[in-house]
Amino acid sequence: MNIILVGFMASGKSSLSRYMATRTKRQALDLDIEIEKRAQMSIPKIFETVGEKAFRDLESYVTKLCKNYHNTIIATGGGCILREENRRALKEAGLVIWLNTSPENVQKYTAKRNNRPLLKGDKSLNDITQMMKKREALYADSSHLKIDVFQHNLEEIFDIIQSYK
Ligand code: S3P
Repeated sequence: MNIILVGFMASGKSSLSRYMATRTKRQALDLDIEIEKRAQMSIPKIFETVGEKAFRDLESYVTKLCKNYHNTIIATGGGCILREENRRALKEAGLVIWLNTSPENVQKYTAKRNNRPLLKGDKSLNDITQMMKKREALYADSSHLKIDVFQHNLEEIFDIIQSYK
């Protein structure tokens, strides 16, 4: 069975997918990287040149390919859950885990690197909180299990997922 990680930007999806893949000797797949490979440009460049709608179309395309993978740990982009078709495709492709982070951690972990177009120009804690609130119901709708990642380290999160399966 695939394990699919959803959650807000900087919730640790990519790090956890790599950690889990190493621990379980399974393959890791990162949908943001799949998008970049297909577009042959970075995500900021995609947003800049063809815009968010074209990015979301490409994101939907790679999301629908998830069902073709087996026993893979899949990290999604934070906005993958925005479209209903994607939420359905994710749920059909495996066990979907929502990594729920805190606005404080999002701010902390995105402060230095500016590779996320939607967080461009230092966002206030209030801006981040509002963005997260808007998406909360969508993460809940797309996932089978929610983990409050700010309460655990990687190993504990790994154990929670392993015991849930
Ligand atoms: C986005 C999250 C990003 C990336 C893009 C849009 C979003 O992925 O897909 O910048 O809408 O939340 P990460 O969650 O890996 O940062």
